[in-house]
Amino acid sequence: MTPEERLQKVLAAAGLGSRRRCEEIIAAGRVSVNGRQAVLGDRVDPERDEISVDGVPIDPRVEKKYLLLNKPAGYVTTVRDTRGRPTVMDLVRGEGRVFPVGRLDMDTRGLLLLTNDGYFAHRVMHPSHAVEKTYLVTAEGRLGRRGLSRLRGGVELEEGVTAPARVRVLENEGERCVLEIAIHEGRKRQVRRMCASVGLKVVDLVRIRLGHLDLKGLEEGSYRVLSRQEVEPFLGDS
Ligand code: URA
Repeated sequence: MTPEERLQKVLAAAGLGSRRRCEEIIAAGRVSVNGRQAVLGDRVDPERDEISVDGVPIDPRVEKKYLLLNKPAGYVTTVRDTRGRPTVMDLVRGEGRVFPVGRLDMDTRGLLLLTNDGYFAHRVMHPSHAVEKTYLVTAEGRLGRRGLSRLRGGVELEEGVTAPARVRVLENEGERCVLEIAIHEGRKRQVRRMCASVGLKVVDLVRIRLGHLDLKGLEEGSYRVLSRQEVEPFLGDS
């Protein structure tokens, strides 16, 4: 008896969406099996065959986990810290081998995803999928008209000009301002450096949204499991 199963069934079980949707992914030429582009009708042995989607290996044998953490300040976004500091993994104990999707600085608070699904992480982080990340920024300094239009249009950082950002000014009085900044890129310390380049020193930074997800109802330091409906939009088209 053959252990082989229809490829779309295996992909669906691995969390890539409905069978119908997985058929579309196969038909679009995005799936390979043992290094060869798959076609509709292919059957695979999930125990032995090497399956990739968009070049990212898929392991159908592992049950996928997707966690949304409200990260406090003081935790490093890494699986293991060589300097022994607290890490975000300390906050999701008992969840097995998950890893953070992207990173927040040690002092940054807010929304951080963790998963054991490499394909999901790739989809969320890859710049071509342009997931919007929104930050609530409290800064010392006053944002002038010119600074605001530079933040919106793109500022020059060491490695090049940032892409346009959506910026809302929530407060701008005295020597303190509160802004909401939404960006698609994920450069190192990007929001802090963007603010510094217009003369603002960030004193508090919270990621409040990532795509369609937000922190509603989730206390700082706690996490929850994402529903299938929350995961699927990230796996979307192409
Ligand atoms: N931008 C930053 O400067 N820091 C973060 O942690 C996230 C975005």
